[in-house]
Amino acid sequence: MIGRLLGKPGGWRARLVEGLSGDVLEIGVGTGANLPYYRNAASVTAIEPDPDRAQKAQAAALQAATQLGISVRIDVAPAECLPYPDAAFDVVVSSLVFCSVADQSLALEEIHRVLRKDGLLWMVEHVRPRTPILARLATFVTPGWRRIAHNCHLDRPTLTLLQDAGWQVEVLRRRGVFVKLRARRGME
Ligand SMILES: C[S@@+](CC[C@H](N)C(=O)[O-])C[C@H]1O[C@@H](n2cnc3c(N)ncnc32)[C@H](O)[C@@H]1O
Repeated sequence: MIGRLLGKPGGWRARLVEGLSGDVLEIGVGTGANLPYYRNAASVTAIEPDPDRAQKAQAAALQAATQLGISVRIDVAPAECLPYPDAAFDVVVSSLVFCSVADQSLALEEIHRVLRKDGLLWMVEHVRPRTPILARLATFVTPGWRRIAHNCHLDRPTLTLLQDAGWQVEVLRRRGVFVKLRARRGME
C-alpha cells in the first residue's frame, strides 16, 4: 500500500536508499527490509531496539554485506541513545520509525549528534493528517492503536517537530499521511 502511495509499487525502499553514499546509519531497521538496496553506501550501520527483530536483521545484514560487498552491522539500541561517537555518519535513514519512538525530540538530538556537518537525514514516515477532523480522529484512535501496533502513533507531528528543532526540511513526496523527506542539520 505504501508503495502505491509513494510511487512505483514495491520500489519505495530501493528509491529511498539506493542513491545514498558514504557511511549510513539506519535507525529502527526492523527485520532489515531496506538493507539489500544500499548499492552506493560505503558502509551501513543499523540500530534496532527489539532483540528479536535485530536478530532477523542480522541475517539480512549478512546477506546484504555479501551481495553489496560492504560492511553492514546491526546493533541493539534505541534511537534515543545511539552508541556511536559524534559526527560518525554521512547519512541517517528512518523508514516508518518516528511514529513509534518513545521520545522523538531526544531521537532527533541523537541523530543530529552522530551526523557529520553536511550530513543528511532521509525519512519515509506517516505523520499527523493535515485535515483537522482527520487529525482529531487520529488522536482519538491512537491510544488503542498503539497498544496493538507496537507503540505506533497515528498523530505524530514529525514534520513540525523537525522544523521546530531547526532542521532544514525538504518534502520530496507526500501522499495522504505518508511523507518522504530529506533534512539537513540546522545551523550550529
Ligand atoms: C513499522 S517498523 C519499521 C521497520 C523498518 N524501518 C522498515 O521500514 O521496515 C518500526 C520499527 O521501529 C522500531 N522502534 C521502535 N521504537 C524505537 C526507538 N525508540 N528507536 C529505534 N527504533 C525503534 C521498532 O522496533 C520497529 O522495528
